[in-house]
Amino acid sequence: MESSLPDLEAILLVGGQGTRLRPLTLGTPKPLLPTAGVPFLAHQLARARSFGVRRIVFATSYKASMFEPVFGDGSSFGLSLHYMTEETPLGTGGAIRNAAQALTSAPDDPVLILNGDILSGHDIGDQIRQHVDRSAAVTLHLTEVDDPSRFGCVPTDPSGRVTAFLEKTPNPVTNRINAGCYVFTRSVIDGIPAGEVVSVERETFPGLIDDGALVLGYADRTYWLDVGTPAAFVKGSRDLVLGRLASPALPGPSGEFLALPGAVISPEAKVMGGSTVGRGSVIEAGASVVGSVVGDACVVAGSVTDSVIGDRARICAGAVVRDAVIGDGAVVGSGNELQAGVRVWPGVELPECAVRYSSDV
Ligand code: GTP
Repeated sequence: MESSLPDLEAILLVGGQGTRLRPLTLGTPKPLLPTAGVPFLAHQLARARSFGVRRIVFATSYKASMFEPVFGDGSSFGLSLHYMTEETPLGTGGAIRNAAQALTSAPDDPVLILNGDILSGHDIGDQIRQHVDRSAAVTLHLTEVDDPSRFGCVPTDPSGRVTAFLEKTPNPVTNRINAGCYVFTRSVIDGIPAGEVVSVERETFPGLIDDGALVLGYADRTYWLDVGTPAAFVKGSRDLVLGRLASPALPGPSGEFLALPGAVISPEAKVMGGSTVGRGSVIEAGASVVGSVVGDACVVAGSVTDSVIGDRARICAGAVVRDAVIGDGAVVGSGNELQAGVRVWPGVELPECAVRYSSDV
């Protein structure tokens, strides 16, 4: 088990609009989307706590007022939670600078910064220890991906020092990318201009490197996932349910599926692959739900694979839903076959037998 560090402070970046996850994020910010039975952030909070974080400042912007009613003062999570809202979004760096007004850390203390849409199994305690031992300005978690051409990449020298922040390129020089978890020395945060839109990736980190500050990479190949797209979001939820990434916030034992209170699953239905079935939802005889997130108060009689089904949606017998997002209250009539990234907007009713492929509905 990870060893903890005493009384650490963290900032959670949760103000993004989550455009890639629409329509799920039209009514709910990405960090609050139900993931393996609890709001996504609950997994991050529990993990941060397990490494000794006790006080967290949420940097909010998009749908800012929705966070406090869910997490309150944090006491039920064993944390002290605080909320700092940007009137207009300030980007990742501006948000960190704004949220830092609520920190109590001294100038030389390490402060953990987490993107609010990452699932990671890396050893945060070890990342912080290396930061402190090397007296770094910033220590970045770097993850190794098979195809780095879709990301900006972050080369390091043999001592672990980050030498550049490179934009996406077809010929990346390394397969290490920014994994969205940083340790900042508090005084470095205070050096970010206040009240301005600033990107840590495009401005703060390259600026620190140019100035000769020590920006360290903490590289590993443990579980890592950015849940920013529908396919990744559904994968994150099923990996948590299946126990591929252990989370202290999982509301039940890991296994083939997670049924929330009030869910009714027919013995003649197939529910598996790390699926979650929401409160009061009914999975009827003959239905199949594989690797999917089914919201609350849904009725599923058809076949659902690797998809997200919003609250109160209905998937009729004979309908096939694969790699799709079905908005709240939508109805997919019998005979529809939806796949390959189709998104059905909330409340839309697809009548029986219409067949649609690969477009938003
Ligand atoms: P997309 O719109 O789908 O790209 O998602 P996003 O809005 O979450 O953007 P992105 O994934 O690049 O953001 C990375 C992290 O920073 C997420 O946790 C966001 O919530 C957060 N974030 C991005 N921009 C801002 C901002 O202007 N203010 C605050 N407070 N957080 C932000």
